Amino acid sequence: MGIMAPRDATRIAIDALTDAQAKSELKRLAAEIGAHDRRYYQDDAPTVSDAVYDALRRRNEEIEARFPGLVRTDSPSRRVGAAPARGFAKVRHRVPMLSLGNAFSEDDVRDFVERIRRFLKLSADEPIAFSAEPKIDGLSMSLRYEGGELVTGATRGDGTEGEDVTANIRTLEDVPKKLKGRHVPDICEVRGEVYMTKHAFLALNKRQAESGGQIFANPRNSAAGSLRQKDPAITASRPLGFFGYAWGEMSAMPADTQSGMIKWLESCGFKTNPMAKTCRSADDLLAFHHQIELRRGELDYDIDGVVYKIDRLDWQERLGFVSRTPRWAIAHKFPAEKAVTVVKDIDIQVGRTGALTPVAKLDPVTVGGVVVQNATLHNADEIARLDVRIGDTVEIQRAGDVIPQVLGVVTEKPRGAEPYRFPTKCPCPLHTPVVREINAAGEEGVRFRCSGEFACPYQRMEHLKHFVSRRAFDIDGLGEKQIQLFYERDWVKEPGDIFTLEARNGKIRLEEVEGYAETSVRNLFSAIRARRDIPLDRFIYALGIRHVGDTTALALARGYGTWDAFEEACRMIARGDEETKEEMDALDQIGETVIDSIAKYFAEKHNRDIVERLTRQVRIRDAERPKDSAVAGKTVVFTGALEKMTRDEAKAMAERLGAKVAGSVSKKTDYVVAGPGAGSKLGKARDLGVAVLSEDEWLGMVAAT
Ligand code: IVH
Repeated sequence: MGIMAPRDATRIAIDALTDAQAKSELKRLAAEIGAHDRRYYQDDAPTVSDAVYDALRRRNEEIEARFPGLVRTDSPSRRVGAAPARGFAKVRHRVPMLSLGNAFSEDDVRDFVERIRRFLKLSADEPIAFSAEPKIDGLSMSLRYEGGELVTGATRGDGTEGEDVTANIRTLEDVPKKLKGRHVPDICEVRGEVYMTKHAFLALNKRQAESGGQIFANPRNSAAGSLRQKDPAITASRPLGFFGYAWGEMSAMPADTQSGMIKWLESCGFKTNPMAKTCRSADDLLAFHHQIELRRGELDYDIDGVVYKIDRLDWQERLGFVSRTPRWAIAHKFPAEKAVTVVKDIDIQVGRTGALTPVAKLDPVTVGGVVVQNATLHNADEIARLDVRIGDTVEIQRAGDVIPQVLGVVTEKPRGAEPYRFPTKCPCPLHTPVVREINAAGEEGVRFRCSGEFACPYQRMEHLKHFVSRRAFDIDGLGEKQIQLFYERDWVKEPGDIFTLEARNGKIRLEEVEGYAETSVRNLFSAIRARRDIPLDRFIYALGIRHVGDTTALALARGYGTWDAFEEACRMIARGDEETKEEMDALDQIGETVIDSIAKYFAEKHNRDIVERLTRQVRIRDAERPKDSAVAGKTVVFTGALEKMTRDEAKAMAERLGAKVAGSVSKKTDYVVAGPGAGSKLGKARDLGVAVLSEDEWLGMVAAT
């Protein structure tokens, strides 16, 4: 008998495989599973049953468990995330991809520099170096290299989880498949921006128009569209560029400054932006902003501002993050772009909380490279203030991702005949009366609301749309359009109904609805199933409690840890329990407005019932806390002066290690860190028997973790 052919290896029991057979078998499995994945996820046309597919994956995993040294970089087991329902697999970013805070004015930039000085306790004459770079208006991308080889290209997604676009990203000339240089760390995640040049964008739109294809609004959208192609050959035909400017997980750091890292990226074979520059003061930064703005028009790619980053990486680390943005960097935006057009109509939109928002329907106009057709008019008072009438010519502006807004009427042009009259009835089918909002202080607010509350189908539908939105349940294949359809057909009236759809499908028969086919229905149900397991912060956010945005939801999730603890606290607060209220108030980022709104939400039986039915359908995952830290889950109060660091830095460090920082001492406080000049809080800690630490003792405890 000759050498065993790879095919035959498939029949050999795993225990009996030789090294060589295992190796060839893993190679074959990677290719075969990869091909099934493509047919399933990209073509929506699987050729094997789920059971056959599962058996292949199991065999792959079992062989890998016996031969860990043979695990391939392209192994199916390395692809992270549950089976996605549409298009691309999901990739969990090991280091989150966050965004930047914005500066719009000279003062904002000076504040940024001063804040850093204060936070790091730097004297006014201590030099600070910044890396100043153009802010490329494309889409951010994380490229993972293992052993110098490109293994994954992932979009940013929600910052925690992006889409696996490896096959497409491989077609970009600017993306090295193998890193150059001898000292490449074993794991490198290179981050940067994928963009399309302006002239490539215009040429592409011209070709698309000729062939009846999709027309893109701006280079950014066309870069995104080109990258999210199911067929990499299409991506390859679209000229996309890539600039490297940041990194994620690194097994070793090749430099200790931002500018050093940029040089290192270049040495690896990346393009970096040639206009990046080191600046040493706020004046320097402002001069850079001005100079780049002047050159903006000449560049063949869109930029929407500049980015300033602290050059020293040890300082970056100390500065850390506030919620989703770093303290050590900021985007200094260019001013919003403006245009003039005609208001054809004014529409009233009903939000999740019943607030009515007037929207101007415009004659389409290009603002900063984007076609705009709608602009917000904010509220009734704003319409009255501007005296915007249907038929008026108005000036509009668009700033970054912000919804375009109407600035004012061009009174030199012919005016609309009649002043606009804000409706007194909600446009919903119930036509309930509209009421002016009364704020917490009992004063009249600027918003009008539909008084229909739960009876108002618009509000219920908006609630559901919020529930499935990106930062909430984010269910692939279940967007606003589908929610509307399911709502109108009475299939989904409240969040819990989404999870019983599959069981009810015998009656519903979704596959017979126009626009659906068996594969898409199967994909939808599997995406819904995947979301039966949901992190606590997303769950809290998804409830759509007023004033509880995603950052607040995260703070609440971290504060309470589990759904049971959080819900119990909410119910207590709704019943007026003062102590629980104070406890919640002690959490960082949580204040009176949020607490009142939580109280209102949980006081409503209708809401409690909806939540109750929903919790029966899902498993809510406890909030993640850094586990191996001695202070994780502890409540700390800082009082008096600190000498080694500022209060802000101490607080940020404690939170990074999973501790809760409270403003006042109570029975629930674990440690009081007291510096010179500590007063009543120290006294209270002693009365209550709370452990009191000096700054050094605290630092020693933190360092030991
Ligand atoms: S640094 C922690 N540098 O801007 C944030 N971002 O609003 C690290 N962007 O998502 C980002 N040019 O897509 C950085 N030179 C640059 C950039 C840049 C464009 C984008 C990026 C990011 C967004 C943040």
